Amino acid sequence: MNHELIIVLDFGGQYNQLIARRVRECNVYCEVKPYTMPIEEIKALNPKGIIFTGGPNSVYDEESPHIAKEIFEMGIPILGICYGSQLMAYTLGGNVETAPVSEYGHTEVEVDTTDVIFDGVSEKTVCWMSHTDYISNVPEGFKITAHTPVCPVAGMSCDEKKLYATQFHPEVMHTTEGMKMLSNFVYKVCGCKGDWQMSSFVETTIKELKEKIGDGKVLCALSGGVDSSVAAVLLSKAIGKQLTCVFVDHGLLRKNEGDEVEAVFGPNGHYELNFIRVNAKDRYLEKLKGVEEPEAKRKIIGEEFIRVFEEEAKKIGSVDFLVQGTIYPDVIESGHGKSAVIKSHHNVGGLPDVVDFKEIVEPLRMLFKDEVRKVGLELGIPEYLVFRQPFPGPGLGIRIIGEVTEEKIKIVQEADYIYREEIAKAGLDKGLGQYFAGLTNMRSVGVMGDFRTYDYAIALRAVNTSDFMTADAAQLPWEVLAKVTNRIVNEVKGVNRVMYDCTGKPPATIEFE
Ligand code: XMP
Repeated sequence: MNHELIIVLDFGGQYNQLIARRVRECNVYCEVKPYTMPIEEIKALNPKGIIFTGGPNSVYDEESPHIAKEIFEMGIPILGICYGSQLMAYTLGGNVETAPVSEYGHTEVEVDTTDVIFDGVSEKTVCWMSHTDYISNVPEGFKITAHTPVCPVAGMSCDEKKLYATQFHPEVMHTTEGMKMLSNFVYKVCGCKGDWQMSSFVETTIKELKEKIGDGKVLCALSGGVDSSVAAVLLSKAIGKQLTCVFVDHGLLRKNEGDEVEAVFGPNGHYELNFIRVNAKDRYLEKLKGVEEPEAKRKIIGEEFIRVFEEEAKKIGSVDFLVQGTIYPDVIESGHGKSAVIKSHHNVGGLPDVVDFKEIVEPLRMLFKDEVRKVGLELGIPEYLVFRQPFPGPGLGIRIIGEVTEEKIKIVQEADYIYREEIAKAGLDKGLGQYFAGLTNMRSVGVMGDFRTYDYAIALRAVNTSDFMTADAAQLPWEVLAKVTNRIVNEVKGVNRVMYDCTGKPPATIEFE
C-alpha cells in the first residue's frame, strides 16, 4: 500500500488497537507493530510518525519492554503515551518514580496550549489517567507541557527532536479532547496530509485483486455477515464470475435472513458472481436430534458446515484462491501480522483443510470493523447488511437452550423478529450492542382465554458493550418491553411467558449457550 503511515509500537498496552483506529479516523493509515521490531525494519517502512503505547509495566522492572536509544535519533516524530511516555523519559535520561498512590480515572489536566500537541485544546481539559509511575524529571532539551496537582509531568515535548509524550491516554473517549491531540500530532508534527480514504481503498484493492487473481478461480464462504459480504462484493467487482460464493443455510438463521442474503447475492441480486445456496436445514436437524449439551451442539453445527461446504467444493473442483474475511483485529491478536490466522469460528475454521486451493486471499485483513462497514457502504451494499448486528456462526442453535427442533426454531425466529421490529420502531436499534430473543427450555403454566396453557418462555436479551468481552444488560424502556411481550404472547404460538435477562457479562455470556 502506498500511503502515509503511522506506526503504533506496542508495549503491551490494552489500547493498542484503539490508538490505531483513532489515527485512521484522522484519515491516516496506521499499523500496530511489536516493540521488538528491529529499527532497520521500522525505517524501511518509512513511517511519518511513531506512537508508543502504554503498558502494564514499570520501566525499572528488568522484564519490562525497553527500546534502543537510536529510535529517538532517526528524526521520525514520536508520541509516547503512558508507559510509552515514561519509557521515553527514562531512555533519554529523565527520571521516573513510583507514586505512593495511583492516579486513575477522569482527571482535569492543565495543558500548555502553545505546545503543538495541545494547539486548540482547552487550558483545563479532562483526560483519562491510569498510572502509578510518573515522570519526575524530564530529559534534557524537553519542556513540561501538562500537569495535574499530583502528576508534575502529564505532558512533555522536545520540538527540536520532534518527541512528544502524554501520561494520560488521548486515544480513549474519556479524554474529551484526545482526538484533537492525536490529530495535532499526525498533521502538525508528522506533516501528514490524510490520504487514507475508504473510497481509495476500494479502488486500489479492486485493482490489486484483479492483478493478483488474473484469470484464477475463487471460492468464498458467504455467511451474510458483514465481513464475508464485503469481501465477496470486493471480489465480485474485481473478477466477476470467476468468483463462486457458497452460502450454507443451516436453517438456524434469523427469520427471512436466508432469503435476504439470496436477494442481494443470488441470480436476481445486485452483483456479478456465481451464487450457490445450500438449504441444509434437514441434515442439521437430523444431526442435532436429541443433543442438549451446548458444546456438543456447537461442535456438530461447526462440523456439519464443513461437511456441506466440502461437498460443494468437490463439485466445483480445484480453485486458485479461497477467500477469508479476516479483519485487522484478528491479525493483531494473532501476533502482529506475522502469521495469517484462520478464524476459529465455524464460518471459516477448518475450511482450508477440505478445499483444494492454492492460496488464501484476505482483502479485509488491514481493516477495522468500522472501516469494513464504510467499505460496504462505498460498495453500495444495503445498509441492513452493513449494519447487521453480530450473529454467531452456530446461529439460533445456541439461542435455543437444550435440544433444537423445527418447532423451537420457528418460535424463536418469530419472537426475535417481533423484538427486533419493536426495537427498531422505538429507534433503539443503532444504540444497542446486541439484542435478540432466546428460547428457554422452560415450559410453565399459563391461562389463555378460558384455557390452561403449558408453553415455552422466551427470554429477551439486550446488551451494551464495546468489545463483546464484557457487557452490561441494557435498561430498555418498560413500554417497549411491555409491547414486545404483548405481541409475542399474542402472535407466537407456543409461548405464554416472556422474561428479560438482566445479567451482565460476566457472570453470564451474551449468548445463552
Ligand atoms: P458470548 O456469548 O461469548 O458472545 O458472550 C460474545 C460475542 O461473540 C458472538 N459469538 C460467536 N460468534 N461464532 C461467532 O461467529 C460463535 O461460535 C460465537 N459465539 C458467540 C456473540 O454473538 C457475541 O457477539
